[in-house]
Amino acid sequence: MDQVQLGGSHLHVSRICLGTMTWGEQNTEADAHSQLDYAVERGINFIDTAEMYPAPSRAETQGTSERHLGSWLKKTGRRDKMVIATKAAGPNASVTWVRGGRARNFDAANLRAAVETSLRRLQIEHIDLYQLHWPSRNVPVFGNNVFLPKRERASVPIEDTLSALGDLIKEGKIGAIGISNESNWGVSEFIKQSELKGLPRIATIQNLYNLSARGFETSLLDETCYRDNVSLLAYSPLAFGQLTGKYLDNPKAHGRLSLFPPTWSPRYLRPATVAAAARYAQLAREHGLTPTQLALAWCYSRWFVAATIIGATSLEQLQHNIDAYSIRLPLDLIKQIDQIHATITNPGQ
Ligand SMILES: NC(=O)c1ccc[n+]([C@@H]2O[C@H](COP(=O)([O-])OP(=O)(O)OC[C@H]3O[C@@H](n4cnc5c(N)ncnc54)[C@H](OP(=O)(O)O)[C@@H]3O)[C@@H](O)[C@H]2O)c1
Repeated sequence: MDQVQLGGSHLHVSRICLGTMTWGEQNTEADAHSQLDYAVERGINFIDTAEMYPAPSRAETQGTSERHLGSWLKKTGRRDKMVIATKAAGPNASVTWVRGGRARNFDAANLRAAVETSLRRLQIEHIDLYQLHWPSRNVPVFGNNVFLPKRERASVPIEDTLSALGDLIKEGKIGAIGISNESNWGVSEFIKQSELKGLPRIATIQNLYNLSARGFETSLLDETCYRDNVSLLAYSPLAFGQLTGKYLDNPKAHGRLSLFPPTWSPRYLRPATVAAAARYAQLAREHGLTPTQLALAWCYSRWFVAATIIGATSLEQLQHNIDAYSIRLPLDLIKQIDQIHATITNPGQ
């Protein structure tokens, strides 16, 4: 497995990162450990989790994904060989069980509490990459793409957040830092504040990126991140499973999109997203590929994707998804993908 350096940080990670979002909801601890064993066998050293996982987040399960990763790190003694990334949840009035919902934010006290609790759940002393799960300020996220000034809310100034993270870095609790679900303005402001005030610099951005959601390119975040040396960690490369094609013949096929209420994932169920998934699935089959292979091989090969964060509920899925790393898509196939994108642009964004 190839490795890549994350931004200007000291971290070198596999170009596939293993996501953990299902662990504790759709996957047991034993499943999580088998996935980790298998991923390591295939050269993956990079694992992404979050304090609020598993998803969808519930009071009864919150923190379990980190715990399952922690018990594996302890059991195997492989901590030093792995790059562990986790995330602090931003403000969200409806997720009250993670440090108080709306009161939760990226100030010094909250970030310290979040880091220390994650360290305990992970049973480690240092988090390699610490990320802000979504912005403190008013920014449309998770499929809501309209910026509305009337939704402005009090937020923690970015320089204060960077300063708080800087203290945690000095104490050795965290290493590199990253942002997630961020915009062009957000990336530029984080970089500007770190340069102006001599504060730590972000190394990564973890944003949605897949065949049906190419906003990272169309909003020119690719240019911003290239110039500012911020590495993209692409999440949901299969659009929550929609791009595997399994829901096309049978919308009730077993999986995340049929198991949970559609209110969790409306962007992956929009008619235009389903229509795009059908076009990509047909294209894949015309080229002797599965829809999953097409979606992942394409994402793995994009020049601005440093690492793709994959997710799986079964070992069989995980194997198929890692195997897709060795597939090289011919230029004419990439051009046909771009033609579909031009006619159905970012339906799942
Ligand atoms: N920063 C953020 O806000 C954010 C948001 C989302 C995700 N993430 C990160 O990114 C990781 C990956 O995201 P994701 O899980 O949404 O990725 P995804 O690739 O879009 O979806 C993964 C899901 O698709 C299904 N699947 C995967 N491979 C398959 C296959 N070969 N055949 C059929 N179905 C398959 C599985 O669910 P079923 O078996 O249930 O169908 C699997 O859990 C997460 O674990 C998390 O670490 C971050």
